[in-house]
Amino acid sequence: MGIHYDDNGRMFKLDTDHTTYLMGLTPEGYLGHVYYGKKIKQFGGAYRLRMQEAPFTPSVNKREKSSFLDFFPMEYPTGGIGDYRESCLNVRNEQGCMGAELLYVSHVIEKGKPGLPGLPASFGSEDEVETLRIVCRDEILGLEAELMYSVFAAEDVITRSVKISNQGRENLRLEKVYSACLDMDHRDFEMITLHGSWARERHIQRRSIGYGKQMVSSFKGESGHQEHPFLALVTPDTTQEHGEVYAMNFVYSGNFIAQAELTQFHQIRMVMGIHSEEFCWKLAPGETFVAPEAVMVYSSEGLGKMTRSFHDFYRNHMIRSPYKYKSRPVLINNWEATYFDFNTEKLLAIAREAKANGIEMLVMDDGWFGKRNLDDSSLGDWEVNEEKITGGLAELVRQVNEIGLQFGIWFEPEMISPDSNLYRRHPDWAIQIQGRENTQSRAQYVLDLSRKEVRDYAYECVAKILRSAPIAYVKWDMNRQLSNLGSAKLEPDRQQELFHRYVLGLYEMQERLVTEFPDLLLENCSGGGARFDPGMLYYSPQIWCSDDTDAVERLRIQEGTAMIYPISAMGAHVSDCPNHAVGRTTPFETRGHVALAGTFGYELDITKISPEDRAQIPEQVAMYHKYNDLVREGDYYRIASYSRNHMFDCYGVVRKDKEEALFTYVQVMNRPNYHSRRIFFKGLDPEKLYQIEGEEGTYTGDVLMKAGYLVQNLWGDYKARLIHVVKA
Ligand code: GLA
Repeated sequence: MGIHYDDNGRMFKLDTDHTTYLMGLTPEGYLGHVYYGKKIKQFGGAYRLRMQEAPFTPSVNKREKSSFLDFFPMEYPTGGIGDYRESCLNVRNEQGCMGAELLYVSHVIEKGKPGLPGLPASFGSEDEVETLRIVCRDEILGLEAELMYSVFAAEDVITRSVKISNQGRENLRLEKVYSACLDMDHRDFEMITLHGSWARERHIQRRSIGYGKQMVSSFKGESGHQEHPFLALVTPDTTQEHGEVYAMNFVYSGNFIAQAELTQFHQIRMVMGIHSEEFCWKLAPGETFVAPEAVMVYSSEGLGKMTRSFHDFYRNHMIRSPYKYKSRPVLINNWEATYFDFNTEKLLAIAREAKANGIEMLVMDDGWFGKRNLDDSSLGDWEVNEEKITGGLAELVRQVNEIGLQFGIWFEPEMISPDSNLYRRHPDWAIQIQGRENTQSRAQYVLDLSRKEVRDYAYECVAKILRSAPIAYVKWDMNRQLSNLGSAKLEPDRQQELFHRYVLGLYEMQERLVTEFPDLLLENCSGGGARFDPGMLYYSPQIWCSDDTDAVERLRIQEGTAMIYPISAMGAHVSDCPNHAVGRTTPFETRGHVALAGTFGYELDITKISPEDRAQIPEQVAMYHKYNDLVREGDYYRIASYSRNHMFDCYGVVRKDKEEALFTYVQVMNRPNYHSRRIFFKGLDPEKLYQIEGEEGTYTGDVLMKAGYLVQNLWGDYKARLIHVVKA
């Protein structure tokens, strides 16, 4: 059993294989945080709630209740009554006043884990996960909060979410409902977050923490290119192997906040949830609101261990696709090959050449529908343009299949172009503020997915196409962020629900898709990698990482992404040079090696690239098949980081049984008059005897990890090597 309750001490103890999480109840029923960290055996220790210290608890000293509330390490703090730190729950009553106070009522411990209605959520069997539900109440409001903690012992993960029910008689307005809070004593923590932009997603940022609030967030209706729903607090000595890490990741694809607040008493409050700006949820009597799930990982062995916990967790308990433990077909996508300028003939020419070189699937990207020859029209008109695709879509798919390739297709179902038949018929289907000019982005508006008829239409457009031909893969794109929030159907006092209702609508559509087409390989995408989050992983086993496919830029993007997400989920392709995002030319071989740390595919006109490059494709496809089981299911180790040393990058994947490993080394910049570089492998079995494929000699894992492996200097910049280590 991973969850225990001690009636005497009124303490909850949550154990994973290597961590313990402790909470305690005060005599009045406040639920306080006691400890999170390395596993401890002993229960005891209610004293850690510090109830003997000033300012005591309210029943002893009601006069100073505010100083209690502003100091006590709350598991789920509420706003309005005297805790001046960031709250997790703000509730306004019918008189217009904001205040709530949650006190313990009861709890249940059960095996397994219930789903979250309408939301993506991790799952596991009764042997894999246990759940604690603590019911707290505010008697005045008649409001009940159920705090849910699920313990995944093997992955050292605890997930949290919250259910708020209105059991009173008046309407309540939820102005803020976060999912998780962690109140700890400050230990000179630094914070690690991910930041970026289009074509520069998820670069790692580490900074010290000062007094006050520091956060990352999104207010764009999606998780976004710029900041990421992830936050880790680390002790200052933290490296890949050492140091303590407290990480939170949010299973949600809309607005979020991830914040660390250093308080006057040198405590740190870490919170995560739906951004409260432009959020207000009307909760009528009898209604319930469910907050999305937050995933918590504690590691006492640095960032590397944190990464491997997240990877195992997402692979085992978040991704549902039948593809999660399967090789994905090597695809070729025509976006960078043709952009909008294509027709059946061009696609078939690409398909034939692709087949001849071992590629397994053709993906037809943007531009096949309506009259879309540029990015300025037709979103919403999901009918094939027969001027381009002569004979129709089913005929194209038939011909591609006949060549011997599977077929995949691109959609952007959430959008509507002002220049579309759909918009001319239903201008009110676009999210907009009545009477105000709507803001365009990439010449498009966003469909109001809070409306069922809009979702039904958009879903049917996709499903109709998929029913019409054997289509094996869908790239679901989303190329603009939300603005001008207004829905023609929502009541004025529900307009601030639109951001969240939009995300719920999106989830509902994707759920329908994977239910109706269970074998479909779905890849989510958003202007590159703007919606790469655990929420989307629930529906698609892979997500397009970035529109930047340059091998050097990808090192940073993939390092940041792989810090949390399994590399089997990272959409990565070999594209043509000079690269379309940065104009850089890198060797074809290096592009292949870098894309191998992902789903692997091509994004180029195979009929036009040089014969030398083309000749490498069959070899690269064979390499993908050789290594994919290892890459998809192995343990990931970060060895060196180009983003920090500005010279070279190195990472590896080690099979779970430690019998095989693949290390990728990229020498970004060459140096004159320089000797071989010593690389310290990680994750091997120190006792086992290994050999390096293609080289003489055997070495124990101990030698390769401690004395290292010498990589000879490679001639030129942007050179890469794969080092395949196998059991001797
Ligand atoms: C986005 C995607 C690209 C491509 C284009 C098509 O930018 O990230 O891969 O599909 O849209 O418009």
